[in-house]
Amino acid sequence: MAKARLQFICQNCGAVSPRWQGRCESCGEWNTLVEENTAGGIGGGPGKAAVRGRVVELQALAGETKSPPRIASGIAELDRVTGGGFVRGSAILLGGDPGIGKSTLLLQASAALAARGERVVYISGEEAVAQVRLRAERMGVSAAPVALAAETSVEDILATLEAGKPPALVILDSVQTLWTSTVESAPGTVTQVRASAQAMIRYAKQSGATIILVGHVTKDGQIAGPRVVEHMVDAVLYFEGEGGHHFRILRAVKNRFGATDEIGVFEMTGGGLSQVPNPSELFLGERNAASPGAAVFAGMEGTRPVLVEIQALVAPSPLGTPRRAVVGWDGGRLAMVLAVLESHCGVKLGPHDVYLAVAGGLRINEPAADLAVAAALVSSLSGIALPADCVYFGEVSLSGAVRPVVHAAQRLKEAQKLGFAKAVLPVQSIDKEQGETPGLVGIDQLAGLVASIAA
Ligand code: TYD
Ligand code: MG
Repeated sequence: MAKARLQFICQNCGAVSPRWQGRCESCGEWNTLVEENTAGGIGGGPGKAAVRGRVVELQALAGETKSPPRIASGIAELDRVTGGGFVRGSAILLGGDPGIGKSTLLLQASAALAARGERVVYISGEEAVAQVRLRAERMGVSAAPVALAAETSVEDILATLEAGKPPALVILDSVQTLWTSTVESAPGTVTQVRASAQAMIRYAKQSGATIILVGHVTKDGQIAGPRVVEHMVDAVLYFEGEGGHHFRILRAVKNRFGATDEIGVFEMTGGGLSQVPNPSELFLGERNAASPGAAVFAGMEGTRPVLVEIQALVAPSPLGTPRRAVVGWDGGRLAMVLAVLESHCGVKLGPHDVYLAVAGGLRINEPAADLAVAAALVSSLSGIALPADCVYFGEVSLSGAVRPVVHAAQRLKEAQKLGFAKAVLPVQSIDKEQGETPGLVGIDQLAGLVASIAA
């Protein structure tokens, strides 16, 4: 047995410190160091003689490269995010707020796979088997042959999985409840989560089963504990949604086998999650086009165009330092657009409170939204509603120029499909044939947009 070694591990970032400190030196969080005894812990155990490994030339592998074997869940919105299905032998972390619908989504995916003859094992450490069954009944998927188990010990789980036909998919709900007897820490601590996840990932690689680890996120948006698992898994997916909305968005933040900019859109209903194949219709559904301060942004989420309304409210501020509040967009980006409007377009927003929201609970990361944001701000300030049949996109630079963005044609096509007749976009994004389409307004300076709204 290795000598017991005392260590202090940060429960936020997983950093190891030889002595206790009030503040983690690595991530700066206070009061996160917890004493952990790592005797025989991860990577520990009795010493083993070194064995020479096998080295392969990259070129020699040329003939062997093929796309990884995948199992599609049959839920199109989920398969889009994973890049075409779960890769066999891979590990996925699904993070999200408690109650957002992670268990619901995975139960539905399990049922869909099991119904097609794959062996799926759903291990719940949070709910009793009867509870999971009840939920499945409510969702109308209780007939699917999903194997359910309520276990939290990694050793027991591995023994359960070894018995019977090897599974294609194993769900572990959640990683915070797992514990292994190889380490002495309490369940939910970073050491336990990491050691348990490591054991399960090893199982995935050996058996060829896909494992999905569920991880709860804390209020500040970090996956508590499971964050240290992020770099161990092949893909990290987040399930997010705004309180009060029924929309749920599945987003990949890391994917070794696919793109990370795709989103899957779902709606939470009484009978589980239903897919939303055309999110634009949903996001524009509750629109009040006649009110000032709303602009429709023609955005892209991965390979899919998504139209969404950007709402701005500009109001005189009673405070010395006016408020700036943003939901669904980057606050830094808003500050930049405000500064450009002030200094290059003569729009005086300085003494005003500014609120900006992306409708429907969507979060936008594209700089292409700059132009729509600017339009919404100017519209709110001037009290003039924007044309109801117009979409906006384009990146704004610090000099006040409007820069071209990718996929202009796709954005315009989606807008046209949804009944929009006009678009304001960077002039360089209009190619020759599009130039003849009526309704397209190409601009190269943000000042041009401001002048057109006031006119
Ligand atoms: P759940 O999947 O348990 O969330 P998580 O695993 O992320 O903690 O989802 C729980 C919420 O979803 C709960 O507030 C009720 C709601 N819900 C529905 O609205 N309809 C349904 O059919 C189900 C199963 C859940
Ligand atoms: Mg759950």
